Amino acid sequence: MPKRLSFRSDIPRKRRALVATAVIMAILVAGLARMAAAQPIGAEGQAVPAALPPGPGHDTVVRVCSACHSPDIVATQHLSAAEWRNLVDLMVRQGASASDQEQAEIANYLTRSFPPNPPISASRPSPSGS
Ligand code: HEC
Repeated sequence: MPKRLSFRSDIPRKRRALVATAVIMAILVAGLARMAAAQPIGAEGQAVPAALPPGPGHDTVVRVCSACHSPDIVATQHLSAAEWRNLVDLMVRQGASASDQEQAEIANYLTRSFPPNPPISASRPSPSGS
Protein backbone atom coordinates (compact mmCIF):
# COMPACT_ATOMS: atom_id res chain seq x y z
CA MET A 1 0.00 0.00 0.00
CA PRO A 2 2.68 2.57 0.86
CA LYS A 3 4.48 1.46 -2.27
CA ARG A 4 1.51 2.33 -4.50
CA LEU A 5 1.18 5.75 -2.91
CA SER A 6 4.78 6.65 -3.41
CA PHE A 7 4.57 5.47 -7.02
CA ARG A 8 1.62 7.76 -7.68
CA SER A 9 3.18 10.77 -6.05
CA ASP A 10 6.15 10.25 -8.32
CA ILE A 11 4.20 11.15 -11.44
CA PRO A 12 3.52 14.83 -10.69
CA ARG A 13 7.16 15.30 -9.70
CA LYS A 14 8.29 14.02 -13.08
CA ARG A 15 5.78 16.25 -14.78
CA ARG A 16 6.96 19.28 -12.86
CA ALA A 17 10.52 18.51 -13.89
CA LEU A 18 9.37 18.19 -17.49
CA VAL A 19 7.55 21.53 -17.37
CA ALA A 20 10.54 23.22 -15.77
CA THR A 21 12.80 21.82 -18.48
CA ALA A 22 10.43 23.05 -21.17
CA VAL A 23 10.36 26.53 -19.64
CA ILE A 24 14.14 26.67 -19.44
CA MET A 25 14.43 25.47 -23.03
CA ALA A 26 11.95 28.11 -24.18
CA ILE A 27 13.91 30.84 -22.43
CA LEU A 28 17.16 29.60 -23.94
CA VAL A 29 15.70 29.34 -27.43
CA ALA A 30 14.17 32.80 -27.17
CA GLY A 31 17.49 34.21 -26.00
CA LEU A 32 19.41 32.54 -28.80
CA ALA A 33 16.89 33.72 -31.36
CA ARG A 34 17.23 37.27 -30.09
CA MET A 35 21.03 37.06 -30.27
CA ALA A 36 20.88 35.65 -33.79
CA ALA A 37 18.45 38.34 -34.89
CA ALA A 38 20.46 41.11 -33.25
CA GLN A 39 23.71 40.25 -34.98
CA PRO A 40 22.91 41.37 -38.52
CA ILE A 41 21.17 44.49 -37.20
CA GLY A 42 24.25 45.44 -35.21
CA ALA A 43 26.51 44.83 -38.18
CA GLU A 44 24.39 47.00 -40.46
CA GLY A 45 23.75 49.65 -37.85
CA GLN A 46 27.41 50.29 -37.23
CA ALA A 47 28.49 53.44 -39.01
CA VAL A 48 31.51 52.02 -40.79
CA PRO A 49 32.51 54.36 -43.63
CA ALA A 50 34.05 52.92 -46.75
CA ALA A 51 37.61 52.34 -45.59
CA LEU A 52 39.23 54.29 -48.39
CA PRO A 53 36.86 56.58 -50.27
CA PRO A 54 37.57 57.01 -53.98
CA GLY A 55 39.27 60.15 -55.23
CA PRO A 56 42.57 61.44 -56.55
CA GLY A 57 45.45 59.78 -54.72
CA HIS A 58 43.42 56.73 -53.74
CA ASP A 59 45.35 54.37 -55.98
CA THR A 60 48.70 55.79 -54.85
CA VAL A 61 47.76 55.24 -51.21
CA VAL A 62 46.73 51.66 -51.92
CA ARG A 63 49.93 50.99 -53.88
CA VAL A 64 52.42 52.69 -51.54
CA CYS A 65 50.77 52.15 -48.18
CA SER A 66 49.80 48.50 -48.45
CA ALA A 67 53.40 47.25 -48.60
CA CYS A 68 53.71 46.68 -44.83
CA HIS A 69 50.16 46.80 -43.46
CA SER A 70 46.62 47.18 -44.71
CA PRO A 71 46.15 50.61 -46.26
CA ASP A 72 42.84 50.69 -44.34
CA ILE A 73 44.92 51.50 -41.26
CA VAL A 74 44.78 55.15 -42.30
CA ALA A 75 41.02 55.19 -41.62
CA THR A 76 41.78 54.90 -37.90
CA GLN A 77 43.30 58.40 -37.91
CA HIS A 78 41.74 61.83 -38.37
CA LEU A 79 44.52 64.35 -38.71
CA SER A 80 45.27 67.84 -39.91
CA ALA A 81 47.18 68.43 -43.15
CA ALA A 82 50.44 68.96 -41.26
CA GLU A 83 49.90 65.83 -39.19
CA TRP A 84 49.20 63.73 -42.29
CA ARG A 85 52.36 65.08 -43.93
CA ASN A 86 54.31 64.10 -40.83
CA LEU A 87 52.77 60.63 -40.82
CA VAL A 88 53.53 60.06 -44.50
CA ASP A 89 57.06 61.29 -43.82
CA LEU A 90 57.32 58.86 -40.90
CA MET A 91 56.18 55.97 -43.11
CA VAL A 92 58.71 56.91 -45.76
CA ARG A 93 61.39 56.81 -43.07
CA GLN A 94 60.02 53.36 -42.11
CA GLY A 95 60.72 52.33 -45.70
CA ALA A 96 57.66 53.32 -47.76
CA SER A 97 58.83 54.12 -51.28
CA ALA A 98 57.12 57.15 -52.77
CA SER A 99 58.45 60.10 -54.74
CA ASP A 100 58.02 63.60 -53.31
CA GLN A 101 55.12 64.11 -55.67
CA GLU A 102 53.48 60.85 -54.57
CA GLN A 103 53.96 61.78 -50.92
CA ALA A 104 52.20 65.08 -51.51
CA GLU A 105 49.43 63.28 -53.40
CA ILE A 106 49.01 60.82 -50.52
CA ALA A 107 49.02 63.55 -47.86
CA ASN A 108 46.42 65.53 -49.81
CA TYR A 109 44.21 62.49 -50.26
CA LEU A 110 44.45 61.61 -46.57
CA THR A 111 43.76 65.17 -45.44
CA ARG A 112 40.71 65.35 -47.67
CA SER A 113 39.42 61.88 -46.72
CA PHE A 114 40.30 61.83 -43.02
CA PRO A 115 40.30 65.37 -41.67
CA PRO A 116 40.36 66.04 -37.94
CA ASN A 117 37.16 64.92 -36.22
CA PRO A 118 34.75 67.83 -36.16
CA PRO A 119 33.37 68.83 -32.76
CA ILE A 120 30.29 66.79 -31.86
CA SER A 121 28.02 69.84 -32.00
CA ALA A 122 28.97 70.44 -35.63
CA SER A 123 28.65 66.83 -36.78
CA ARG A 124 25.08 66.25 -35.58
CA PRO A 125 21.87 68.02 -36.48
CA SER A 126 20.56 69.90 -33.49
CA PRO A 127 17.96 67.86 -31.57
CA SER A 128 15.54 70.79 -31.55
CA GLY A 129 15.00 70.28 -35.27
CA SER A 130 14.69 73.79 -36.72
C1 HEC B 1 57.90 50.07 -44.92
C2 HEC B 1 56.73 49.66 -44.26
C3 HEC B 1 55.56 50.63 -44.20
C4 HEC B 1 54.94 51.25 -45.25
C5 HEC B 1 55.24 51.10 -46.73
C6 HEC B 1 53.90 52.06 -44.69
N1 HEC B 1 53.87 51.90 -43.33
FE1 HEC B 1 52.49 52.67 -42.06
N2 HEC B 1 53.29 51.64 -40.53
C7 HEC B 1 54.43 50.88 -40.62
C8 HEC B 1 54.71 50.34 -39.31
C9 HEC B 1 55.88 49.41 -38.98
C10 HEC B 1 53.69 50.78 -38.46
C11 HEC B 1 53.46 50.47 -36.99
C12 HEC B 1 54.54 51.04 -36.12
C13 HEC B 1 54.30 52.45 -35.74
O1 HEC B 1 53.13 52.84 -35.46
O2 HEC B 1 55.27 53.19 -35.69
C14 HEC B 1 52.80 51.61 -39.27
C15 HEC B 1 51.68 52.24 -38.78
C16 HEC B 1 50.89 53.08 -39.51
C17 HEC B 1 49.74 53.78 -39.01
C18 HEC B 1 49.17 53.68 -37.62
C19 HEC B 1 49.86 54.64 -36.71
C20 HEC B 1 49.25 54.63 -35.34
O3 HEC B 1 49.58 55.55 -34.60
O4 HEC B 1 48.48 53.70 -35.02
C21 HEC B 1 49.26 54.54 -40.01
C22 HEC B 1 48.04 55.46 -39.96
C23 HEC B 1 50.09 54.32 -41.15
N3 HEC B 1 51.06 53.41 -40.82
C24 HEC B 1 49.92 54.92 -42.37
C25 HEC B 1 50.69 54.65 -43.48
C26 HEC B 1 50.54 55.33 -44.75
C27 HEC B 1 49.57 56.47 -45.02
C28 HEC B 1 51.41 54.76 -45.59
C29 HEC B 1 51.66 55.15 -47.04
C30 HEC B 1 52.24 56.46 -47.23
C31 HEC B 1 52.13 53.73 -44.88
N4 HEC B 1 51.67 53.71 -43.59
C32 HEC B 1 53.09 52.90 -45.42
C33 HEC B 1 55.17 50.62 -41.73
C34 HEC B 1 54.87 51.04 -43.00
